[in-house]
Amino acid sequence: MTKIEKVGSFESKITVYVVVCWVLAACGGLMFGYDIGISGGVTAMDDFLIKFFPAVYQRKLRAKEDNYCKYDNQYLQLFTSSLYLAALISSFAASKMCSKLGRKPTIFVASAFFLCGSLLSAAAQRIWMIILARVLLGVGVGFGNEAVPLFLSEIAPVQHRGAVNILFQLFITIGILFANLVNYGASKIHPWGWRLSLGLASLPAAFLFVGSVVIIETPASLVERNQESQGLSTLKKIRGVEDVDAEFEHIKMACEAAREVKDPFKTLMKRSSMPPLIIGVMMQVFQQFTGINAIMFYAPVLFQTVGFKNDASLLSSVITGLVNVFSTLVSIYGVDRVGRRKLLLQACVQMFISQTAIGAILLVHLKGSNSLDEGLAGLVVVLVCLFVMSFAWSWGPLGWLIPSETFPLEIRTSGFACAVSSNMLFTFIIAQAFLSMMCHMRAFIFFFFAAWIVAMGLFVLFLLPETKNVPIDAMVERVWKQHPVWKRFMDDYDGK
Ligand code: BGC
Repeated sequence: MTKIEKVGSFESKITVYVVVCWVLAACGGLMFGYDIGISGGVTAMDDFLIKFFPAVYQRKLRAKEDNYCKYDNQYLQLFTSSLYLAALISSFAASKMCSKLGRKPTIFVASAFFLCGSLLSAAAQRIWMIILARVLLGVGVGFGNEAVPLFLSEIAPVQHRGAVNILFQLFITIGILFANLVNYGASKIHPWGWRLSLGLASLPAAFLFVGSVVIIETPASLVERNQESQGLSTLKKIRGVEDVDAEFEHIKMACEAAREVKDPFKTLMKRSSMPPLIIGVMMQVFQQFTGINAIMFYAPVLFQTVGFKNDASLLSSVITGLVNVFSTLVSIYGVDRVGRRKLLLQACVQMFISQTAIGAILLVHLKGSNSLDEGLAGLVVVLVCLFVMSFAWSWGPLGWLIPSETFPLEIRTSGFACAVSSNMLFTFIIAQAFLSMMCHMRAFIFFFFAAWIVAMGLFVLFLLPETKNVPIDAMVERVWKQHPVWKRFMDDYDGK
């Protein structure tokens, strides 16, 4: 247990119990990350292709003629992307459940779906089974990604909210890395290695399942559902101090406003809801248009494309996975110190340089079937690492943090659902389109992402307010009503 910290009139200590709650809930990120990391490696395994996508396998054998196009197949892409479509739709149901029944049961449901999905995908015999399994996993992701970041932001003391929320992203990156390692080993087991890869998704699901039983409900969710005294005792428990009156007052005020709202999605369409809605949705859209998942899902495929052998390409994605995990730690350290905006802006510069450099190398050196020589292929890996590194301390974690902390309580779950579903929609679009885009745009795909990075830098510069050290239930007063652009939208705000 740490000493008492004070921010304004809010007091808190970090207790062992609350740390356990953070870590267990963040296992939702493990589930999501495992899935992101596993698909690319599995779709690069011959045994998997022979069983479910024989046409792609045949094409791969004949593929010498065009590196960029050998994996372009809509069904193969559907395997990766069906999960995100299911997650997109289910995040709205998850938002309802989150506000009516609470964050904790929503996390429980997420783990149950994910467990079923991972077992079915390991046992799949036909293509429809594997797609159905992806849909079950997707529902798990939709529920988990809705409830976990909200849970973390609500339960964290204000001065550590960024760091605590980023545990979710840290676990995503650990999930991706773990999946890369599993793929590396499983690709050597014939002919069922892919079953192991897919089935091991049950591990993170099991962690979250246990977690969902142990964790506590958030005070805001309890008070919102008329369980005031329980809300107060929970707040005392998670803050580790007796004097929580000031913070509890904030929560109660936010809940009063929330209770008056009968239809949160309608309220979300009001002018005064636009600032956090636009920011929340755009953070997610931009996050995906950095091009990160083109790299995450298809890293093994991408590295094969630039001329690595199967094994070397999986190994390279293990390296990017490690960079991803360690750079997220930088964000945990920095987010509540240097703030959100600086991290995002610095990363835009680094990501822009790496994407354009990768594009230029591929454009000049990789024409048609020729592969890169060893030195240049190594340089591409280094540039990919620089890109992943900057994403990992900025748009990765903050894409989840900022939408989870900027909505007022009355529209928090519905607003966040819009952010989550935007993430899923654009993850889906990239997963579905990337291999075809690579086939048609070739190296220009990297310039395409670089152009988006310029747009997102400008967006942060002019439109994104700093939310470091602002209590979650004081965003309207302290952030939106003060911002030079967004304050004009706040006239019809009638919350307390
Ligand atoms: C994103 C994922 C991405 C991952 C990479 C997450 O924040 O939502 O789409 O694959 O970061 O670490």
